[in-house]
Amino acid sequence: MTILTTFHSLPRVTLALAAAATLALGVPHAEAQDAASAAVKARQSHMQLYAYNLGILGGMARGLVDYDAATAQTAADNLSTLAHMDTRSYWLPGTAMGEQDGSNALPAIWEDGSDIGAKAGDLAAATEALQAAAGSDLAALQGAMGPLGAACSACHKSYRHSDE
Ligand code: HEC
Repeated sequence: MTILTTFHSLPRVTLALAAAATLALGVPHAEAQDAASAAVKARQSHMQLYAYNLGILGGMARGLVDYDAATAQTAADNLSTLAHMDTRSYWLPGTAMGEQDGSNALPAIWEDGSDIGAKAGDLAAATEALQAAAGSDLAALQGAMGPLGAACSACHKSYRHSDE
């Protein structure tokens, strides 16, 4: 009763100011949400580009598709370009799994002792070896695929949630 009486006695201008304050607080929150959602989408899209190019090479390496030196070289070059991009802004704090919808990134990425940067460096090195081998012949491509796949898996094992 007391609360209601107080509420009804508030001048209109106070209510208008309160509404404006709520709006002002709401806008930065919405912007932060957009940034978080965009960061998750960007890194997952980057991962999809890895998977796409790796798939081309994997098909040849396993004999499902005929080996073609130019196609293999292009896919290897794309993987290397992707792996050498500066993607630090994708890994926005506050976008771990459980913090941001759709994220499968483990919180360990942002914790002390995280070596995700080193694991990204390992992938970049593996793509350089792949680049040197992929356009030579099928045997060279096959030899470079193992270390590349291992570099993907090593990071996923530590930093990507998996239901398996
Ligand atoms: C340095 C760490 C790291 C490396 C290296 C890495 N990944 Fe990932 N990957 C992740 C993390 C973390 C996620 C989860 C991202 C999320 O959901 O926010 C992920 C997710 C993915 C996804 C799922 C994307 C989606 O749409 O949800 C695919 C596919 C993938 N990675 C493929 C690859 C392939 C292929 C390679 C190697 C060529 C690779 N990744 C190398 C860390 C890495």
